[in-house]
Amino acid sequence: MRSRNPVLIAPSILASDFARLGEEIRAIEAAGADVVHVDVMDGHFVPNLTIGLPVVRAIRGVTTRVVDAHLMITNADQYVTRYVEAGCDWLSVHVEAVTHLQRVLQQIRDAGAEPGVVLNPHTHEDAVDYVLEDCHHVLVMSVNPGFGGQRFLPSALRKIERLRERAVARGLELRIEVDGGIDPDTAPLVREAGADVLVAGSAVFGAGDYAAAIAALRG
Ligand code: DX5
Ligand code: ZN
Repeated sequence: MRSRNPVLIAPSILASDFARLGEEIRAIEAAGADVVHVDVMDGHFVPNLTIGLPVVRAIRGVTTRVVDAHLMITNADQYVTRYVEAGCDWLSVHVEAVTHLQRVLQQIRDAGAEPGVVLNPHTHEDAVDYVLEDCHHVLVMSVNPGFGGQRFLPSALRKIERLRERAVARGLELRIEVDGGIDPDTAPLVREAGADVLVAGSAVFGAGDYAAAIAALRG
């Protein structure tokens, strides 16, 4: 079931040229990106290490778009307030990495950002059922987190459909975000299933023409 919200495109800067990060962000803004997706990895929750608070602060300084941080870190409860203070508009934590999920979502909201929960490919949508009202967005991983450029896992489609049905049945304006392997072939599938925020790293930054790449995902 398609979302009633307009689809937002969120390029993941993981695939950008980090040596020219400011320019890259200005380029995706000019190309029509709605959201800047920032992948924070700690080398523990996922087998990769990326960026943290100082880079989020720097990104906030160069964009007026929504800054969306995806925390792939353990002990996320100890960090969420600082990530909001660093300038995130949206902030999501993995259900697999947090013990007191509802409390963490409330911490994010109290700090002034829109909270989200991320589900790994193996995690059932029931894991978020009792906090759905506390979420601005649910981020469905369509690859195992840690790296860009992986192949889309089709099981994400059923999860997106079920979450959209649940949100509609409960009258929630939930954003459903999908992350991993999104390209012009998989984008129509996830939009039809009910996703309305599409994260894409390689499909945007790997393209010569960012505007055409973003338009192709929006459909
Ligand atoms: C993976 C990250 C993704 C990644 C997506 O752990 O969460 O945001 O950058 O990259 P692509 O679009 O290349 O699959
Ligand atoms: Zn991500």
